[in-house]
Amino acid sequence: MGNFGRNLGLATLGFAFAMPVLADEGMWTPDQVPQIAAAMKEKGLKLNPEALSDLTAHPMGAIVSLGGCTASFVSDTGLVVTNHHCAYGSIQYNSTAEKNLIVDGFYAETLGDELPAAPGSRVSVTTDVTDVTQQITGGLAEEMSARDRFQAIDDRRKKMVADCEVDEATRCAVSAFHGGLQYFLTTRMTILDVRLVYAPAGAVGKYGGDIDNWQWPRHTGDFAFYRAYVGPDGTPADFAEENIPFVPKHHLAVQPQGLRNGDFVMAAGYPGRTSRYRRLSEVNHAFSWQYPLLEDVLGNWIGTIESAAPTGSDARVKYASLLAGLNNFHKNLGGQMEGARKVGLTSRKKATETALDAWVAADADRIAKYQTSIAKMDAVILAGQQTRVRDQFYGYVGARPALLSAAKRLYRLSLEKQKPNEAREPGFQDRDMRGFSQRIQRTDRRYDAKVDQTVWEMFLTYYGSLEGADRVAAFDMALGMSGADLPDVSGYYANPALATSEARLAWMEKTPADFEASDDPFIRLAVALFDYDMEREETLKIRAGKLQTLRPKYMEAIIAYSQTQGKAIYPDANSTLRITYGTVLGGSPQDGLEYKPFTTLEGILAKDTGLDPFDSPKAQLALIEAGDYGKYALDDIGSVPVNFLADLDITGGNSGSPALNDKGELVGLLFDGTYESINSDWDFDVKTTRSIQVDVRYMLWVMEKLDHTDRLLVEMGVK
Ligand code: ARG
Repeated sequence: MGNFGRNLGLATLGFAFAMPVLADEGMWTPDQVPQIAAAMKEKGLKLNPEALSDLTAHPMGAIVSLGGCTASFVSDTGLVVTNHHCAYGSIQYNSTAEKNLIVDGFYAETLGDELPAAPGSRVSVTTDVTDVTQQITGGLAEEMSARDRFQAIDDRRKKMVADCEVDEATRCAVSAFHGGLQYFLTTRMTILDVRLVYAPAGAVGKYGGDIDNWQWPRHTGDFAFYRAYVGPDGTPADFAEENIPFVPKHHLAVQPQGLRNGDFVMAAGYPGRTSRYRRLSEVNHAFSWQYPLLEDVLGNWIGTIESAAPTGSDARVKYASLLAGLNNFHKNLGGQMEGARKVGLTSRKKATETALDAWVAADADRIAKYQTSIAKMDAVILAGQQTRVRDQFYGYVGARPALLSAAKRLYRLSLEKQKPNEAREPGFQDRDMRGFSQRIQRTDRRYDAKVDQTVWEMFLTYYGSLEGADRVAAFDMALGMSGADLPDVSGYYANPALATSEARLAWMEKTPADFEASDDPFIRLAVALFDYDMEREETLKIRAGKLQTLRPKYMEAIIAYSQTQGKAIYPDANSTLRITYGTVLGGSPQDGLEYKPFTTLEGILAKDTGLDPFDSPKAQLALIEAGDYGKYALDDIGSVPVNFLADLDITGGNSGSPALNDKGELVGLLFDGTYESINSDWDFDVKTTRSIQVDVRYMLWVMEKLDHTDRLLVEMGVK
């Protein structure tokens, strides 16, 4: 959660010496640590802040990415702790209606019982981050067309990634920061064999479900364990019986004493995306158009899946992971809009924008440097919004059906394969093929023809109501659609050529001619839509090429302007490793309402109705009733703390991040933000923004008292 670089420093202090006063906003890159070192120490950090800049040292070397979530090593035999909701896809993948691990939980009594995670699961450790701005953007001619610029940057990125990936285990990426003002090459060591070790029952791991999601007070045991495995020679390898647990260079010490109110806390993780430096036109697009629309569509989508896949059916298990994601996003949208109204987001953004524009306009140098670029950027953004209705709904009807999307990717692969590897589109190079086929395999446990068809029909109903330029002629033609009349799409599902993963894998080897000659309805549709899809991709590449020169100028202006105000600027989240620090504390999100920093075991008793999602395991209720706290009570609250609040600056992707104490020991896991914080993705408000963590004491209490996961407690050195 989070937003705009606000009072992070005192006036007149430069970048490198910014001394935060309110401080807690900011998702800092490891190389920015020197800028925040003094403030971190002031807040209570005991370990040397410099250590946090060294990715190969403790504790940063123990922080890993799961792709979309964060996790950390907690033993020298590859044990990884993350959120229950981050392992949810793997818990779901290993579940059926009869043997439902989502409900029952899972515990591997021995190493041999650990289960392969969903295909494509990865654990990766960032080992290096290098500034490559010069190599990516240096020497590109000013007058180059936007399309050529896009291609030049893309080609340089691909070349750099290819040179960097010296072996199977090394994965590299070039990430843009500040919209392309800077580029960094990140190198990650990637584990390919990931196994599920332990997940508590759903009534612990997802306690409170979507009712409590994004909300405080909270009592969710949102934690689970994976293990990283490597080949017998110690290097990353695909799943195999003979693989052995990975020995990480660093792992976190688990500190069973946890934290108290007011203590220093920090987190390192991989926040996905924030929009803290956006133009007002982009804010308006999101809040006045996109979010209300999405809220409606997602509500329908969720309802459609729920009725096509009734509770208790195998289809429901297949869609559990997608449903959790949709519900999470749906509620997020409500929080975004409500939060925006409450903080007056639009007027705050308007004020920021007016101030920036005025600062630029006040000086001839600044006018020359920034003004035209900002005006051009505004125009490109507005032009992009012209086709938003078509883009949004074509995105659903023309890409959501699982086998249509598979057919599109497979046909594209057959075409890309005719080019030399290095000239192929990212996603279709040799380096991408492992992930490509794993994605194909995953679909089997996440697809049901009836559900897929019903959802497609729901999207077609939306699409049918569109008119004129909001429709895609090629799509109408291929489906024989006009106006609001719905075509009969049952033929697509009668006997689809791509129904099984075996079939889809076999189609990875086919030629374009094979696709063009196929009479499978989904494959024919994919072929029929190809030209339109390419035209669309070209438009997006041209737009990206324009923004690649304009947005950096805008960000340069923001940074220069902020410097005059003594504010340090951190880049918007972009799925790269970041550090955030703050304090354990409650807050007052609304007039008359006070959040306490900790929830307790007794809170579970009080909330429990015996009905999903407030149906805590009977054994847990009995333990609480008996006051059996073991060694995990916090005297200040007279109970075992379940969840706690802090003012860490986080967003989606930070989930699973270890909450670390002043010595870098694990004291909890970050897993959510409060409802009032959601909107901080656009505009961080220090008053309302709070992150939610599961307390280490609750994790250990559940493991010891409820699930008796002794071997893991021993392995982590807490028993
Ligand atoms: N709000 C959490 C996040 O975005 C996800 C929580 C998942 N739980 C749920 N009930 N859907 O990271």
